[in-house]
Amino acid sequence: MTEFNDKCVIVTGGASGFGKAMCEKFAAAGASVVVADLNLAGAETIAGALPSAIAVAIDVADEAQNAALANAAVQAYGKIDVVCANAGIPHRVVSAIEMDTEEFDRMFAINTRSVFLAAKYCAPHMPAGSAMVATSSIGAKRPRPGLAAYYAAKGAVLTLTQALAVELAPDIRVNAVCPVSAPTGFDLNASGVAELPEQINAQVIAGIPMGRRATPEDVADATYFLASDQAKFLTGVCLDVDGGRAIQ
Ligand SMILES: NC(=O)c1ccc[n+]([C@@H]2O[C@H](COP(=O)([O-])OP(=O)(O)OC[C@H]3O[C@@H](n4cnc5c(N)ncnc54)[C@H](O)[C@@H]3O)[C@@H](O)[C@H]2O)c1
Repeated sequence: MTEFNDKCVIVTGGASGFGKAMCEKFAAAGASVVVADLNLAGAETIAGALPSAIAVAIDVADEAQNAALANAAVQAYGKIDVVCANAGIPHRVVSAIEMDTEEFDRMFAINTRSVFLAAKYCAPHMPAGSAMVATSSIGAKRPRPGLAAYYAAKGAVLTLTQALAVELAPDIRVNAVCPVSAPTGFDLNASGVAELPEQINAQVIAGIPMGRRATPEDVADATYFLASDQAKFLTGVCLDVDGGRAIQ
């Protein structure tokens, strides 16, 4: 595929899970990929396996590091065509009223402020026809108990996506994906164990009409679609990638 030849695609959180699959998907379509992650060694491994890519260390909650990311992309590839503002992290499952206030703020810094900062520093370098795709969560629309601050932060991402969409149109389209639960590094951060216990896994699947959790490829495919010309009239869309979870 050559759909993204001569295009520069930034993927934050590109070292693992959804972001890794996004990097591979865009690279397979000819893109030069900026693999941006807190985990530089992981980002370097992903970038090293792609035909045209660089790795950049970033904490997406940090303003100066977002400016540096945009500059690094422009220095390497001259412009920015797609930004996948994907990096994010849940808190450990806890009831809302027992959560530390600092943890609540940290959720908004990593999951929401990151999307604002990506737009603020990348948009000036994005030509007409560019696209941004944020990774929200189906929990932003249908929260379950235990992740209140995380879901609230992802809910704010949906509003921010729509607000950016109206401000940046017609030159830059801004959309979001809302994935359902998937077995990635997310599980370890939310539950403390890398693989969900069988009983919990079965409970999660029971709430998903398609009968399975999402895969990184499911989310990368939807992100790719929203960034591509196939979605050239779509902006402000928050696309559920949830196997029907939200209609249960
Ligand atoms: N896996 C799920 O169940 C699920 C469901 C809905 C939404 N999401 C969202 O999908 C996105 C990707 O998560 P994933 O499931 O692939 O998890 P993951 O843990 O496998 O990958 C997240 C990546 O983001 C990086 N990262 C974390 N904090 C960062 C920071 N401050 N700055 C830069 N990079 C940082 C990590 O190093 C990691 O490489 C996140 O925004 C997450 O909230 C995940």
